[in-house]
Order: sequence, then C-alpha cells, then structure tokens
Amino acid sequence: MGGYPGHSSVHPALIETAESKLTEAKKSEALIDFRVMSCGDDLQLLMSHKKGCDNGEVHALAWEAFEAATEVAKRLKLYGAGQDLMADAFSGNICGMGPGVAEMEINERTSEPVVAFMTDKTQAGAFNLPIFKIFADPFNTAGLVIDPACHQGFTFEVWDVREHRKVLMDCPGEMYDLLALIGAKSRYVIKRIFCKPGSKISEQEAVAVVSTEKLYQTAGTYVGKDDPVALVRCQSGLPALGEVLEPFALGHLVGGWMRGSHNGPLMPCSFETAHPTRFDGPPRVIAAGFQMANGDFVGPVDLFKDVAFDRARQRCLEIADYLRAHGPFEPQRLPMEDMEYTTLPQVMKTLKNRFVNAE
Ligand code: 13P
Repeated sequence: MGGYPGHSSVHPALIETAESKLTEAKKSEALIDFRVMSCGDDLQLLMSHKKGCDNGEVHALAWEAFEAATEVAKRLKLYGAGQDLMADAFSGNICGMGPGVAEMEINERTSEPVVAFMTDKTQAGAFNLPIFKIFADPFNTAGLVIDPACHQGFTFEVWDVREHRKVLMDCPGEMYDLLALIGAKSRYVIKRIFCKPGSKISEQEAVAVVSTEKLYQTAGTYVGKDDPVALVRCQSGLPALGEVLEPFALGHLVGGWMRGSHNGPLMPCSFETAHPTRFDGPPRVIAAGFQMANGDFVGPVDLFKDVAFDRARQRCLEIADYLRAHGPFEPQRLPMEDMEYTTLPQVMKTLKNRFVNAE
C-alpha cells in the first residue's frame, strides 16, 4: 500500500489504520477475529469469519482496510502508495483487483494448528517447491511413510495461471506428471491441497491454500511482484508443524528480488528481520503459527525466529553473494520469457529498428 522507505517495509501507521478498520468489523461481528501483519513492504490481513469463501462483505472489508491504509500512505508520501490496488471502485470480490487472496473454509478440529506464510519480493509459484515437499516428499515429511493417516497421500489442485485453467492431481500416483507441471513455477501454480476420500478430514475441505494472483496480469504492466501468501493446516492426519516448516531450510531459488526481475534464494526470516534491503532483497518468507480456537487466532508465534533456521539464512546470504556477482546476466536475471512482464520490453522497443538480417 506504500513502502517505507522505497520497497523495504510497511510504516506502522498503515498497520494501525488496518487494525482499527478490522477492530470495528470485529465489534459488529462481521469477523470473528483478525491479525494485521507485514512482510517487507506488504500488508497482510488474516481474517476469520463464518460467511464462507468469496463472501462479498468480507472482501469489501479487506478492500476498505487497504484503501484506508493507502490514504495514510499517500499522506505520508510513502513509496508507490496504492501500488497493489488496481481499481478505483470495488466490484464485490478482491480477487483480480491487485491483492493476493488465500481463503479456506474449514471445520475446526479439536486442535487446529495453522501456519500463515507471507512473502515479499517474489512471485506466485514460489510456494510450489515447499508445498510439494510438505505434502508429497517422504524425505521431507516422515508422516507420509510412518503415519497411516498420511500414508495415502494428498490431492493437488494446480492452476495454469496463463490459460486460467485448473487440474486436480493425485499424489503419489501422478507425482511425476505433477512435477512436470509445477516445476514450471511461473505458469503452473499449486492452489490447494485436499485429503483423499476416507481421511479424517473431508476431501471437500482444503488443508492448504496459496494465493495465485499475478499482479502484472491485473495491472497489464509491471508494477511490483505478486508476493504470495499461503495457509497450511498441520498435525493429526496432516504433516506435522516441523514438516510444514522444513522445506524452507533450503533457501530455494525464486523469481522476484530487485525490480521483480531476478532469481534469489527465499530466505526464512523472523518478523523483525523481514525488511529486504540488499538489492531490495533477497526474497523473504515469514511463518506465523496459530492455534485456532472457535475462530480466534491464538498467536502468532514467529516460527522462523528459531535459531535452527540460522544456517538456512547463512546459506541464503552466500547464494545471494554468488548470484549478485552475475549482475545483469542470467541466471541472476530472470529468463527472457519472465522479463516480458517487467520494464525490459520498453528498453527493447528502442533497439528494435537497429536489427538487420544476419547472414
Ligand atoms: P514489491 O513488489 O515488493 O513492491 O517490489 C517491487 C520492486 O520492484 C523491488 O525492487
């Protein structure tokens, strides 16, 4: 809604503004509970309610909170105020209007641990690798091997974000086909994970959901990166909390970073250190842990603050040094196909008429 300074962090006044909007909504019982959080220069709203997914009233509430924060950002002349809000008027659903959305409708279990992941300086598709590892890789998730409740695997819902189509894939049965798609993370993005029929949790209920919005598709031009979020439920027939966090110890490469045009390691960070400043990065992810109690968010716990992620952070810094040394060369810079959605085509236009046929 406006960076402070540049693209690095969210000004506390924006958080306070969104909090006061959502406090009113909680008082009027439009929401059960909420948390306003931030990762880098992105403002995140976590909201619980009983109105189901895609509810117009709840989406309007989020829109109004973002609009109010944008007003404050404009007053403080924060950088790129309103960058991720694409329309002047709200049209009933926030999807496709700039902000990323990850919603799930659940029957809260006796104990319902949930992790909310929030990123900055990266693209939709950044969660493909970790979500795959959590729900399909037995080297990551011991439960897939040793817990009878996980043993049958999970169903993956994958979106083709270019053609706006989706497919359900069975894992492990169709694992190799699944990987053929989701390895191409700028086009095929994991949207939801479901349990199989006969599991403790109904196969209708998502157990993980990721925002898949592509900001350039809404804006029609590069204005910023997608900075996706994800919600993952844990334990009792699902991967354990530690299995959900484990893939982030890799520091896998994602697109984003400076001007949304570079590859960099996704660095797991504490809430306080999620302020990307080196070359506007490297890309960040935070993990907020909650227990749900009748819709109330009990938490958050800052899950990546654990010293056990220090080595992952160190490796990300080493990878960052190595990639930075490549400057404008691939693979530090994104491949040409992904650069089509950045400011590079404007530069290429000026060179177009200089080209002659090569012999
Ligand atoms: P954000 O998408 O996080 O605003 O970053 C944009 C950018 O260009 C950073 O260099």
